[in-house]
Amino acid sequence: MALTTISCIKADVGSLAGHIIVPEEMKEMARKNLKKNGVDKKLINDFHVFNCGDDLELLMTHYNGNNYEKIHKLAWDTFMMCADWAKKNKLYGAGQDLLTDAFSGNVKGLGPGVAEMTIKERKSDPLLVFACDKTEPSAFNLPLFRIFADPFNTAGLVIDPNTTMGFSFEVLDVYKHQKIALKTPEEMYELLALIGTTSTYAIKRVFKKGNLPPEEAIAAEVCTEKLSMAAGKYVGKDDPVCLVRSQSGFPATGEVLEGFALGHLVSGWMRGSHRGPLMPVSQHDATPTRFDGPPRVVGLGFQIVNGKLYGPRDLFDDVSFDITRKRCLKVMEYMRAHGPFEPHRVDEKELEYTTLPDVLKKLQPRFSKSSD
Ligand code: F6R
Ligand code: MG
Ligand code: MG
Repeated sequence: MALTTISCIKADVGSLAGHIIVPEEMKEMARKNLKKNGVDKKLINDFHVFNCGDDLELLMTHYNGNNYEKIHKLAWDTFMMCADWAKKNKLYGAGQDLLTDAFSGNVKGLGPGVAEMTIKERKSDPLLVFACDKTEPSAFNLPLFRIFADPFNTAGLVIDPNTTMGFSFEVLDVYKHQKIALKTPEEMYELLALIGTTSTYAIKRVFKKGNLPPEEAIAAEVCTEKLSMAAGKYVGKDDPVCLVRSQSGFPATGEVLEGFALGHLVSGWMRGSHRGPLMPVSQHDATPTRFDGPPRVVGLGFQIVNGKLYGPRDLFDDVSFDITRKRCLKVMEYMRAHGPFEPHRVDEKELEYTTLPDVLKKLQPRFSKSSD
């Protein structure tokens, strides 16, 4: 049987009332285009269009493998069409993530973010899709560590013989474009030494250990595009998506969701320059407002069925996440009270691509030597 590829390609191409929400009309336009130029032309098998805040997410399934030009072109054309509509209707930030007019084979480096995995479908194959707004790819570092390496989170690491062998993490240095593979549990401390530095290292993929082919070993994939780096200047946060496989040898869906139960601190929020809690929310609440936030994550659960998508279930639309959300709101208040001070405001290195360097440049001539 053909291997199934799941491609989630996303971009912010314009939003309503500031950087708040993708309008319904835009999602409908994207759906029509994916149907007409994707499903009807037998390029893709199925799709689901959704949003997290101002990010438009195109989830597609097909049989063409990762990085397939026609799939990336389909996503690109859909974003271009939506951006044109957004420009005509004077939506905010219209076309902001499309850094060029010319498509060149692959959307990587052109602005949109991509998470793709090619899998051999299991007898029954649950797939979980997480999408964030107002944060960055390394926001998934803590949840992915907890899900795939922390026995206090994932009971299966201790009691399920199919998962006790552990997982392998591919970690990316987003500045140097270098990667390293680290295995858990044996290299857990080394892994934490890297991924705790969220400004530099992001988990890109997680694999099951053992001698499995990639289509069976792949467990999670994060979109790690750094929009700010691609553009050479700050043009918006690189709000990431993450695909996670669950059950039967992978962590159970509930163990995956448990990874988000803290409401951990991430960078992003207002002007991509503030730390705040990542609040897991339902689709209905995927619309950051206060101080353009706080940062949010939505989770959609699907079954992959003969190359198609069955679902979704809105995974964080559940009372069991109310305590997490309440904690996030308390932490939000506390962090906000710090105003322009670190650690609410991110440090200088993370601010490199914002307007702050211009402010500092203006002040530079007024500095004089001090004996203190
Ligand atoms: C963060 C984000 C927003 C904007 C802010 C200022 O990722 O997109 O917080 O940075 O609303 O936007 P501009 O500069 O467009 O007025
Ligand atoms: Mg925006
Ligand atoms: Mg966004």
